[in-house]
Amino acid sequence: MKDLTFNRHRRLRQSENMRALVRETHLRKEDLIYPLFVVEGENIRKAVPSMPGVFHISMDNLKAEMDEIASLGIKSIILFGVPAEKDELGKQAYHEHGIVQRATRFVKELYPEMVVVADTCLCQYTSHGHCGIVKDGKILNDPTLDLLAKTAVSQAEAGADIIAPSNMMDGFVAAIRHGLDEAGFTDVPIMSYAVKYSSSFYGPFRDAAHSTPQFGDRRTYQMDPANRLEALREAKSDIEEGADFLIVKPALSYMDIMREVKDRFNAPVVAYNVSGEYSMVKAAAENGWINEQEIVMEKLTSMKRAGADLIITYFAKDVAGWLS
Ligand code: PBG
Repeated sequence: MKDLTFNRHRRLRQSENMRALVRETHLRKEDLIYPLFVVEGENIRKAVPSMPGVFHISMDNLKAEMDEIASLGIKSIILFGVPAEKDELGKQAYHEHGIVQRATRFVKELYPEMVVVADTCLCQYTSHGHCGIVKDGKILNDPTLDLLAKTAVSQAEAGADIIAPSNMMDGFVAAIRHGLDEAGFTDVPIMSYAVKYSSSFYGPFRDAAHSTPQFGDRRTYQMDPANRLEALREAKSDIEEGADFLIVKPALSYMDIMREVKDRFNAPVVAYNVSGEYSMVKAAAENGWINEQEIVMEKLTSMKRAGADLIITYFAKDVAGWLS
């Protein structure tokens, strides 16, 4: 033993205060963006069965929800709309009085400082459940861009602070940037779902948002989970087109991608901790198989360590409470 030489890493782990001194990554309330599902109708606060703790909320119940969110110290939300009516062209997505537009106006009036992110997509609003215009069974790219730009402008007019296009048509950042600028919204940033995989982890969200495609799947526009270089091409295009933030989605199975995107591009990186990632933890926790708080904190801290600056997560309220 006497002649052995080795490094003593345990020196820096010997007490909680010593560990705190050398901790490299910190999760803060400011990192969290909380997703909300706003639904048309009255007096609705309906649990989403596959996502315990997540609710469909109608406008008349939004104040109570926002009071809770604000009192927890959460500073940003992302709004998803569940409209009463759907049609081929997703008209409710860009209607002046669409559910997201109304909810945005309401929240900004109530809490002007709250950063409201508007998810910009068509799938919740189209009868076929696809993220673009459908013709002869094909999802059309370029004609969809006009509708996305229209949607973004209507959301900005309602007061949205950030536009978050999630629909994965080529050129959507360019089209939305152009549309926003033309309408005078040069200061409204775009948080692009730049790297969005075609993932089974979105299953519970599609129950929640009623956005399951009625035929086929999203694999002609969302990315193949097997691809890494393609993610870098997607992120590069979006930066060139004017994206201000880059989302990587889902989070947990794509930490390698998150790290590479962070290292290669000079823009804030956002991890989307998606519905399936949430539901798996909830199910295991409800069975008493895991310690929910510890697992959630470990997961979200790991996302930051992997390069995420911000995290969109259904756990935001829980985490904000734990951090208090
Ligand atoms: C809409 C959209 C989806 C999610 C966010 N925006 C679903 C999809 O692409 O099918 C998924 C979010 C989640 O699973 O939490 N395009």
